[in-house]
Amino acid sequence: AIDPHFEANRDVAEQHEGHRVWGPVDEPEQQGIHGTHVAVDFDICMADGACLEDCPVDVFEWTDTPGHPESDIKADPINETQCIDCMLCVDVCPVDAIDVDPG
Ligand code: SF4
Ligand code: F3S
Ligand code: ZN
Repeated sequence: AIDPHFEANRDVAEQHEGHRVWGPVDEPEQQGIHGTHVAVDFDICMADGACLEDCPVDVFEWTDTPGHPESDIKADPINETQCIDCMLCVDVCPVDAIDVDPG
């Protein structure tokens, strides 16, 4: 499961589509955690898609991660600022790849 304390345990490696990427990143095998308020561990996501289907405000979009061992696409939280903290995505992800911190 995604580390709920990733902000303390990781460093920002880069920016992607306007959000932070928390490292380590070593593409294509290691992709890090994308987003901060809505965070998706790309190294755990296996492209189930439930988060994209269920998010009421369309926070997620697919992004390509060719060569990653778990899946070639990932749910990217490109609209994380729109999140209304309903926690649906956290509940439906079968591999617990998502952390939402209402803070
Ligand atoms: Fe979307 Fe709700 Fe997840 Fe926020 S908590 S990203 S609104 S499903
Ligand atoms: Fe990935 Fe979980 Fe969404 S596996 S596509 S983050 S439901
Ligand atoms: Zn991203």
